[in-house]
Amino acid sequence: MKLVTIIGARPQIIKASAFSRAIKNHYSDKIEEVIVHTGQHYDENMSEVFFTELNIPAPKYNLAVGSGKHGEQTAKMIERLEEVFEKEQPAAVILYGDTNSTLAGAVAASKMLIPVVHIEAGLRSFDKAMPEEINRILCDHVSTLLFSPTRTGYENLVNEGFSTQLQEKPTANKPNIYHCGDIMYDNTLFFSSKADSVAEKFDLPKEGFVLCTIHRNSNTDDKDRLKSIFDSIVAISSFKKIILPLHPRTKKMMPLMLGEAYAKTVEENPNIQIIEPVSFLGMIYLEKNSDLILTDSGGVQKEAYYLNKPAVILRPQTEWKEIVDCGNAAICDADFDLIVSKAKQYLDCPPKEFPEIFGDGNAAKFMCKTILECL
Ligand code: UD1
Ligand code: UDP
Repeated sequence: MKLVTIIGARPQIIKASAFSRAIKNHYSDKIEEVIVHTGQHYDENMSEVFFTELNIPAPKYNLAVGSGKHGEQTAKMIERLEEVFEKEQPAAVILYGDTNSTLAGAVAASKMLIPVVHIEAGLRSFDKAMPEEINRILCDHVSTLLFSPTRTGYENLVNEGFSTQLQEKPTANKPNIYHCGDIMYDNTLFFSSKADSVAEKFDLPKEGFVLCTIHRNSNTDDKDRLKSIFDSIVAISSFKKIILPLHPRTKKMMPLMLGEAYAKTVEENPNIQIIEPVSFLGMIYLEKNSDLILTDSGGVQKEAYYLNKPAVILRPQTEWKEIVDCGNAAICDADFDLIVSKAKQYLDCPPKEFPEIFGDGNAAKFMCKTILECL
């Protein structure tokens, strides 16, 4: 069976490694995977580094769309994906998450009557101001197989009218939904022990540090929110070292939103170490060695949980409700007082119990098996 996998943004490249590994280890005689990179992310440390480090097969196509406004970027992808699908005639298209690359793949494939397989289906923030919420809802509703990493995601799909009854031969009109665990949990388990091999790349403080990532457009493109988040980081840095691998979007927006002078004081703060985006092993290493994670990333808040670290979520809501419900992550939005007080609380009294709620580390294998059985 020929599958076309579409990736474009950093987290999708990382996720794809779990799926490609499951094919290689268990289904190499049954599944041929053709990888298409839309080119949404293109910096070496946002794309290429993951292929080398995580052993991901090279993309057969790079559509090189680059950055742009939503419509412009998505339209270019749709146009170029149509050509790829015409040439490759895949049995199904594999899509991850909720980026513009996901949406483009969903539109192009579904209109060509190619079954869409959505990995990370059902997640909702219930906030349509997020471009990701629009992308994921639209993708779910043209999919034939929907794999949800969490029980909450599965229930969201049921609430939107998806049937829980499994079809022997599902279609876009009668799709199948599954709760099967998180493909990123597969990856964290697989790569966690290998992450120590990158230790020498980092000059880390001995007594632990706070790891921080920021890239959500609602934070980077809003002056007040970005200022409040950086004020919080500066306040926390007075009692704990901060390491901040900086997303290119945030790097571009910091001087524009915070002003050159303020951005410079942050950059020159000796207790805030701003670094380039790191590789996935680098990130796992930093996460493992941190005492607390401050983030607006979807993936990083979950990895914090997988590696038994508390997380302060720099957003007004999360799709990963479970980690907040059990008290190991806190939604602090861009609220200075909340961020700083919760950070202090977690550092003084770190949570101890991290129940297994994201599967058993074999989500990708289950997906491959189900695709072979159903399509
Ligand atoms: C995208 C996804 C987001 C995901 C994130 C992961 C959408 C709508 N958003 O957000 O859901 O969480 O990726 O990181 O798909 N840039 C570079 N080099 C690169 C890539 C981007 O400099 O390699 C800069 C460009 O200035 C670009 C900006 O970052 O305009 C934003 O990139 P884009 O891919 O549009 O969105 P992200 O914020 O990365
Ligand atoms: N990540 C990485 N290097 C970094 C920052 C993040 O490898 O410098 C990884 C992180 O470990 C996680 C994924 O990128 O697996 C999350 O991607 P991102 O935060 O860009 O997007 P989101 O998950 O919010 O869509």
